[in-house]
Amino acid sequence: MRKFSDKTAVLQHFYGYRTFRPGQEALIDSILSGRDTLGILPTGGGKSICYQIPALLLPGLTIVVSPLISLIRDQTLSLRKRGIPAAALVSGMTAAEREAVLRDAAGGRLKLLYLAPERLLLDEFTEFSKRLRVSLLCVDEAHCVSKWGREFRPSYLAVRPFADLLSSGARPVVAAFTATASPEVRADIIRLIGLRKPFCFTSGFDRPNLYYGVMRPKNKYRILILLLKSFRGKCGIIYCRTRAAAEDLTGLLTADGFRAVCYHAGMDPARRESGMDAFISGKTRLIVATCAFGMGIDKPDVRFVIHYNMPGDVESYYQEAGRAGRDGLPSVCILFADHRDVVISRFFLSRIKSPELLREGYGNLTAMRKLASGKQCVRRFLLGYFGEEAPESCGNCSVCGAKTGPEEGPPAGVPDPDLRSDLRALRLRLARERGILPYRIFSDRTIGDLAARRPVRFRELLGIEGVNVLSCIKYGADFLQEIRAWNDCHLILEAAASRISRESRPRPPA
Ligand SMILES: Nc1ncnc2c1ncn2[C@@H]1O[C@H](COP(=O)(O)OP(=O)(O)OP(=O)(O)O)[C@@H](O)[C@H]1O
Ligand SMILES: [Mg+2]
Ligand SMILES: [Zn+2]
Repeated sequence: MRKFSDKTAVLQHFYGYRTFRPGQEALIDSILSGRDTLGILPTGGGKSICYQIPALLLPGLTIVVSPLISLIRDQTLSLRKRGIPAAALVSGMTAAEREAVLRDAAGGRLKLLYLAPERLLLDEFTEFSKRLRVSLLCVDEAHCVSKWGREFRPSYLAVRPFADLLSSGARPVVAAFTATASPEVRADIIRLIGLRKPFCFTSGFDRPNLYYGVMRPKNKYRILILLLKSFRGKCGIIYCRTRAAAEDLTGLLTADGFRAVCYHAGMDPARRESGMDAFISGKTRLIVATCAFGMGIDKPDVRFVIHYNMPGDVESYYQEAGRAGRDGLPSVCILFADHRDVVISRFFLSRIKSPELLREGYGNLTAMRKLASGKQCVRRFLLGYFGEEAPESCGNCSVCGAKTGPEEGPPAGVPDPDLRSDLRALRLRLARERGILPYRIFSDRTIGDLAARRPVRFRELLGIEGVNVLSCIKYGADFLQEIRAWNDCHLILEAAASRISRESRPRPPA
């Protein structure tokens, strides 16, 4: 391998990128100066090259601890494609494969060695690693060490003793990376991994290329189909809260002619992995998944993430939504929320025994509901949640868009069939409650006019034929509410579609 002395030259030669993203240089410089380092960058922020570039510039070997075998395979494969000598040591390899990797590592023919934390518990490996010249020990997805995190992995606790063991020779630099910004998790990482006087860098958590839309659709599936139709040909993730919900939705979509794979932790591993591969490679453009899907997966061109159910906490929402637009191009994050999602969340909470965790869980849910209420700029809310200041209004979320958008909703024309059937259903309900015949409320023709002209104010409602002052007083509020809800959803649908179709005009990454 050619020798490099300069980080920018490495970036250009191996990755083909011209400039660094915010934070990358500072983190690389810190590691190169020999200081322990903690990097907190948002999902898709570009953490990998923060340790891969030092690995190429430092003498000796870099060991990378990473939580999932699929991730490890992905990363080593893409490194090798770039001509970087990297290998993995994971379970399921043959003895011969394992020995070949160890031989390359000992012989100085490897720059990066990826492994899962469980490997650090094997005496055979720890004994062997004493013979290695390790310059950098890197812990990716470092939040897994914290019990506060959602992805606690006890074996991450083996990192610290391992670092101490390596330190019997020349202590390697220890670096940790995560996208989790909470102060508790950060403190845990420093303590439990044993970072010594680390340089800590937290980059801004704003992802300007993401449009955030929050909806409370009456009929989620119907709106989902409209979204998918306008996103046709693009790659996207649909998150469900439960395994059963993910399976059901995959089935429905398949029956309606959308090709989608399912992903959750309860599936047969072979089927799950092959579905994921199909999605990553672009063979299948839709994946319907639970929160089990996504950590560290580097698919740059995910154009939309739809939360079919509201997650239980803001942190999860932000991480999952953040899987859209890793390439920096305009992408869309849509959150569906309704009362049933709150009920599901409460059910999950009811199974928590520890009072402390229960209190935290309810706090998380309250914050999530506040976000989903759509009363505050979504971006401002998210950034505020992570302790960052943001302007009152971002102009790129459904809350800000609704304020600046056309006051009257989308241009009226032909009656929308879905809205018409919603208004008919409303008429039927009101008629039953009052024990009268539906047409006594509004005629079919008036309903059709309402669905075509979509009035949102009493004044406009009165302008519709067949609506008089009396019916306006009696039924106006109900009908206006129904039409406004429809308008809100459709404004977001249009905004989302226009964001993605503008995608061909690239914006510089965050
Ligand atoms: N300086 C850069 N210029 C352009 N693209 C970059 C740059 N740095 C990284 N990228 C690209 O950004 C994408 C995300 O990078 P990476 O996988 O390292 O993110 P991450 O921070 O590890 O995210 P996650 O928290 O999801 O693991 C990758 O496709 C990567 O190639
Ligand atoms: Mg990563
Ligand atoms: Zn906003």
